[in-house]
Amino acid sequence: MTYIDAAAAPGRNTGQIRLYGADAFEGMRAAGQLTARALDMLAPEIAPGVTTARIDKLVYDFAGDHGALPATLDYRGYRYSTCTSINHVVCHGMPNDKPLREGDIVNIDVTLILDGWHGDSSRMYAAGQISRRAERLLEVTYECLIRGIQAVRPGNTTGDIGHAIQTFAEGERMSVVRDFCGHGLGRLFHDAPNILHFGTPGSGVELKPGMFFTIEPMINLGKPDVKVLSDGWTAVTRDRSLSAQFEHTVGVTEDGVEIFTQSPAGLDHPPYA
Ligand code: MF3
Ligand code: CO
Ligand code: CO
Repeated sequence: MTYIDAAAAPGRNTGQIRLYGADAFEGMRAAGQLTARALDMLAPEIAPGVTTARIDKLVYDFAGDHGALPATLDYRGYRYSTCTSINHVVCHGMPNDKPLREGDIVNIDVTLILDGWHGDSSRMYAAGQISRRAERLLEVTYECLIRGIQAVRPGNTTGDIGHAIQTFAEGERMSVVRDFCGHGLGRLFHDAPNILHFGTPGSGVELKPGMFFTIEPMINLGKPDVKVLSDGWTAVTRDRSLSAQFEHTVGVTEDGVEIFTQSPAGLDHPPYA
């Protein structure tokens, strides 16, 4: 694997890993914080009867009101400002006019571009009262994200992140989705390196100060297998078991990690009330 100074790198994904400086950290902090505020704004809005189209509109308007652009809008043919993934939908669920129902769990994934920098984050939300099984899935999935982030420091590798996530999830008798991964980002939405949410210690790419990427584990109550529906986007569990995901955008610092998309309101996971 090779590394390249981000300031000198071409504006496309060449497979090289960019290393960013202080100004870029500043830009990512601002984009990440705006994305976190969008997710905070949604917390009191999610309830039975609310449509995912309304959630999408709220995010679209929030972005516009703050000088930002939703990165998913017209991205590779995707037409929405959010991904809204309900119950057995793993990721890339498309907003629609169907109201949320009591007991639904929904992931809302928002990526805002501010001054050219991408802040990419998602959280789970509960519509009304959810089952104890769903509650446990949400707790375990959030803990997977945190354990993955705690493995981020110079000298560790991407495999250490995946290993931390996989061992915790499987220890709780849940499974890690293999078909989607975290990703480098910055001025690009999806860049090198891939961040797998499973793996062995010391494998993969060595983490260095100045790397930016997401960690976004998708955890299933049942088997890890996924299929994409005929709409070309919606990914669901093959066994229709519940799936959950949390995502943060992070930067590798000299001695650890900075979470760009940390909620300023402390609304890290449900219950948000
Ligand atoms: N935000 C998603 C991610 O975490 C990407 C969604 S791409 C889309 O990488 F096109 F489906 F919106
Ligand atoms: Co992402
Ligand atoms: Co995302």
